[in-house]
Amino acid sequence: MAAPPSPPDVVYLDGAYVPRAEARLSPDDRGFLFGDGVYEVVRFYGGRPFAEEAHAARLERSLRALRIEGFEAASFPAIARRLAEANGFIDGTCYLQVTRGAAPRRHAFPPPGTPPTVYACTYPLHAAPEKWERGVGVALVPDERWGRCDVKSTALLPNVLANQAAKEAGAEEAVLVRDGLVTEGSHTNVAAVFEGRVFTHPEGPRILSGVTRGVVLALCAELAIPVEERPVPAAELPRADEVFLMSTTSEVLPVAAVDGRPVGAGTPGPLARRLLDAFRAHVGRSTA
Ligand code: PDD
Repeated sequence: MAAPPSPPDVVYLDGAYVPRAEARLSPDDRGFLFGDGVYEVVRFYGGRPFAEEAHAARLERSLRALRIEGFEAASFPAIARRLAEANGFIDGTCYLQVTRGAAPRRHAFPPPGTPPTVYACTYPLHAAPEKWERGVGVALVPDERWGRCDVKSTALLPNVLANQAAKEAGAEEAVLVRDGLVTEGSHTNVAAVFEGRVFTHPEGPRILSGVTRGVVLALCAELAIPVEERPVPAAELPRADEVFLMSTTSEVLPVAAVDGRPVGAGTPGPLARRLLDAFRAHVGRSTA
């Protein structure tokens, strides 16, 4: 019997929509040579994008911070929608990255007018609901990143190493620690609950200003849940009543253990559950 046809996998590269196998990149691309680029990830629920304007706005800020020119961040939503349609996926993400283009390897910027390389693709998400039902483990890992973590740069080596260290310690995510304080996760923002108050690191150069974080803080305001945007000392994190992660793919993900020590009862706490429900209800309204 013939194998079922595999779903189409169309990607976007420099203005064209092509099968992934036909996409070709220069070995001189500065994304490859230097990690000289920025990226975004937008989520689709039931075929509809969530918070695409906020992702486009952050892409614009990242491009401006690195002075990468020649691509309009405002076109991200249209590219993402077209790819989602072409690939026929319902629930997943669209990834887009913009690099400073291809040029002979020199550290300084290439000549003005060198076109950026723009690549985008989609990834279906495979549901693993038990993660949200049971909570996940995290490991505390030193934050060895640069001083502009607010820029969503493709140069993610410290994030990769931190996440791998967490995985090798049997945890799902690395929670990064700088100067004794929790900054964020390797690919998530982090919040902790003490006596009914939600604590999370303030926006600024030490964290990525997460779109999910912004939505969750707005939901806290609506639900009259007190929030303090100040960093939690890493030593206090295992003693929090609750800890949760926030990101496009994690939504609001309860943390059950820090470095193997249970958080609270070692199961998702009431505030994280309430915020996850509120977040999903909000997504439902925005993508209806
Ligand atoms: N992670 N902090 C870092 C370092 C990140 O890479 C991400 C995104 C976040 C959360 O941002 P947002 O809520 O806008 O996704 C925080 C990728 C996209 C993810 O895992 O979904």
